[in-house]
This record gives sequence, structure tokens and C-alpha cells, in this order.
Amino acid sequence: MNKFKLLVLLMIGLFHLSSCKKEIIKTEFSIIPTPTKLEIKRGVFEIPTEIKINNPGYKDFDFALDYASSKFKNFNNIKLKVNKNYKKCDIQISKSDNIKLGDEGYSIDISNSKIKITANSSKAIFYAFNTIFSMLEDGTNKLKSEKELRLQAVSITDIPRFKYRGMHLDVCRHFMPIEFIKKYIDFIARYKMNSFHWHLTEDQGWRIEIKKYPKLTEIGAWRDKTIIGHSSKSNEYKNEKHGGFYTQAQIKEIIKYAETKFITVIPEIELPGHSLAALAAYPELGCTKENYKVSPTWGIFEDVYCAGQEYTFTFLEDVLSEVIELFPSKYIHIGGDECPKSAWKKCPKCQNRIKTENLKNEHELQSYFIRRIEKYINSKGKQIIGWDEILEGGLAPNATVMSWRGVKGGIIAAKQYHDVIMTPNSISYLDHYQGDRSTEPLAIGGYTTVKEIYEFNPIPKELSSEEMKHIIGFQGNVWTEYMPNPEHVEYMVFPRICAIAETAWRGENKQDYLSFTKSLNTEIKRLKKLNINIGKFNPEK
Ligand code: ACM
Ligand code: ZN
Repeated sequence: MNKFKLLVLLMIGLFHLSSCKKEIIKTEFSIIPTPTKLEIKRGVFEIPTEIKINNPGYKDFDFALDYASSKFKNFNNIKLKVNKNYKKCDIQISKSDNIKLGDEGYSIDISNSKIKITANSSKAIFYAFNTIFSMLEDGTNKLKSEKELRLQAVSITDIPRFKYRGMHLDVCRHFMPIEFIKKYIDFIARYKMNSFHWHLTEDQGWRIEIKKYPKLTEIGAWRDKTIIGHSSKSNEYKNEKHGGFYTQAQIKEIIKYAETKFITVIPEIELPGHSLAALAAYPELGCTKENYKVSPTWGIFEDVYCAGQEYTFTFLEDVLSEVIELFPSKYIHIGGDECPKSAWKKCPKCQNRIKTENLKNEHELQSYFIRRIEKYINSKGKQIIGWDEILEGGLAPNATVMSWRGVKGGIIAAKQYHDVIMTPNSISYLDHYQGDRSTEPLAIGGYTTVKEIYEFNPIPKELSSEEMKHIIGFQGNVWTEYMPNPEHVEYMVFPRICAIAETAWRGENKQDYLSFTKSLNTEIKRLKKLNINIGKFNPEK
């Protein structure tokens, strides 16, 4: 080949390369939750096999960069090298004086030559990389061709609407192994949620080791049998021992694992109701002190902690003190829901308490109970969350309310300037059916679809702008009466968790259900490659 020909070929090549780099290779992305603002630009960033990251000395970002490094390694062994002063880098990290980004928001600017990430915390850097990985991932975690190593030039600014974005899991109706708890935390993190509400005590099982009260797990963690079929229709039982619990060492392991995914673990210790397992272990905690059994069936049970005796409060304070010691979360969830008052009505000690404390009735006795526990938890520097029944008889002074019986409780609480997390049962309860009852596996009841969750606005219209500020979050709840194992939990959680995360991140600001369904269909393909058991998604419903 003569020199001239070589030059011409070289010029054509160069021209081609530069025009390539100006092209638009992708206009649809499957990033869930959808970023609040994404603009497509002309250009393509080609990911090198060794990525140079410039981090100008923000030590607090190291944690998230380590995560990014291990994740990039999974993509065809791409290496990530972090330095303070690369002259030329591929990814430039910086902090921002844009107050709007806050603690969890980030921006990403991808051009032909570079990716710029701006954020103020390690968590937000983690979210930014999570977005970049969503732009790259096909679900296998492997990039097979050069083509897949290219990123469309975009400009993204992404800020969550709510500071609390969570998923709950009941491990009492059915015990879930620790490996699955980690997997569940991965699910929560995958969609940029930040809270795992761990429902640890119930009528059907006590699941957390408490050193001072060993019978809670020796006796309270086990039931002899379990109801078969729907509890409203059946009285047939499977005669098999069911149960399990987490040791304090395992709890610490989970908390540590969750920290690596920027997730806070919030324990729930139910009181005064849903406490049969504790009563079975220590009968002196109840009003009648006899015949308590860890429940083999589902429902609401009359036997609850006796509110009239000091022993109950000594016990609960001891339990909570070990719980507080274990969990770094600023919140401790104390339940408070579905506490029948019939045992208290018949109990002389409870009636005496009503008299000596000048309470009007058993509802005020419930409020006395919650306030007293709140005082103890506050004295340890923590705050309580309770289900909306804690409004009955007067709200405890610093309580955050989880509104589950619709949004009504949330509205009342926000009007009293209490923080609220919205989890209305018609929207947030992933134990509901998601399809036709005649073909779906047995569920508790109800019917809740992706579309309904997507369309939900957690901010009730009747609130003033000041009151609205107290709606701090949104959460999906997973009660496991009819989910006997992790595979079944996955089936009920997916794909609705994606809509939970979308509503928690975007709030009222969601207007494009059709494009969300496109993202979700791509995400479902990825999840299948990851062998996740997914419920059927019908975008029409
Ligand atoms: C609840 O579903 N009982 C909070
Ligand atoms: Zn009593």
C-alpha cells in the first residue's frame, strides 16, 4: 500500500471515528427508579479496560468506590484505578455546592471523553454507579462485546423525593434464613431504597436472641404445627415443627452487610399486641398467666402484654436495651397495631392502672403503654415508629407514624406535625394478589398491581405545605402468612418492588407509566437471568 492510500484510509477511519462518537446509540434506558431528570446528548463514551478515576481526596467516597471497583471487575475484569491527581481521567468525582442534591442526590454527565459524577456522600456515589451499571447491564453481569462497553452520552440529575424509602419483611409467620435476608437487602439496594424494616416478633414466633430472656428463643421461636390453606376457611394443620431465630452475632452480620449497601436495618419489636410467642415463653407477662402457645394459625389474638404490672415494663425495657445495643438505626419500631382490649378489660391489674393513671378507658391504657415505652427509647437516644393505631388515646410526643389502614392515620399525624411513612394497605401490601385469584397461588386477599402502586401519590391533597413536609417516606410491606419460603417471597415482591421504589423515589412526580413499563420489562429480563422468581406482570391492570 502506498503512503497516499494509507493516509486516505487513515483519514476516513478518523472521520468515521469522530462521527461515531457524535452519534446517539441509545434513547431508552431501564433505570429503576427512573431518574428525576435525564437528557440525552450526542456522543458515546467508550469504557476502557482500565478506568482511571480522579477523586480529589474525598476519603468518605472510598467505600462506594470500592464497591464500584468490585462491580466493574465483574464486567469482563475491568480495572478501576483511583488517584488524586490524574492529568487525564475517565471518571471525575466531585462534591457539589448545589444544596438541592442533598445527601442522596447525584448528577452524572457522560460525554465522549469522560464521565463526571457529582455527589455529596458515599451513598450518593453508590447510587450514581448503580445508575451507570443499569445503563450497562443486561442482567448477566458480563459484557460480552465491545458494543456493550459503550455508554450513551447523557446528563442526569437524580434526587429522591422522600428520605425514607423502605421494604418490610415479616420473618415471624414464616422464618427466613439469613442468606435470604442478605438477598432481600440486595433487592432493596438494587432500587436505591435505604431502609429494611425487619418484623422480628409476633404471635407465631419470636426471632431475635435476647441474652437475658433465653426462653424467648428456646420456646417462643417454635410452633408445633401450622395451618394449611386460608385461615378464614381451614382448620387443618400441618403437624411439623416450624421456627428459627437469629443469634445476636447473625443480627450484627446482617447490619454490617446492609451497611455495605447503604441500608439501615430497623427492628420491630411488637407491643402491646401480637405478643403470644413472648407470652408462651414467659407466661407471667400476660394478664391471665396461663395457657399461652406460640400460635399455629394467623389472626389477631386476645392475649397481649399485661399493662397493669411493672414486670411487663421491666421485661420490655430489658429486651429493648439489648435491641438498641445491637441496631445503630435511630428508629426502633414498636408495632402498636391490632391490640384487642378484652384481656385488659377483665384484668384487675390493668383496671387498677387505668384508675391510678387517671385514664378514660383501655384506648388510653394503650396510649399510656406506648408513651411509657417511647420515653424509655427516647432516653436511649432513639425514636419510635409505630403503626397508626398509636394515634388512639393520644400520640406519643416524638413518634413517627406508619400509616397502614389507608392514608387517614398519616393525615391525622401529619396535621399534628408528626413524621409519617406511608404504607397504605391497598397500595403497599405485597401479600395481596397481583393477578387472577383462580390462577395465582393462595394469598391473604386483596389485589394490588404495579400500575396502582405507580399511580399512588404518598402526599395527601388535604395537607398544607407545612404538613406535607412530615410525609417522610413510602414503604412496601411483606407479611408472610401465605409465603412459606424465600422463593414465594420473591414471587410476591417482584415485580411490584420496582413500583414501590419508583413511588418512593419520585413521589407525586410520575407521569409516564408507559415508559416505566418498558423499563420494567427490560428489568424483568435481567431478573430472570439472575434466577429471581418473578410474579406475572400485566402492564394493563
Ligand atoms: C398491620 O398490617 N397489622 C400493620
Ligand atoms: Zn393485665
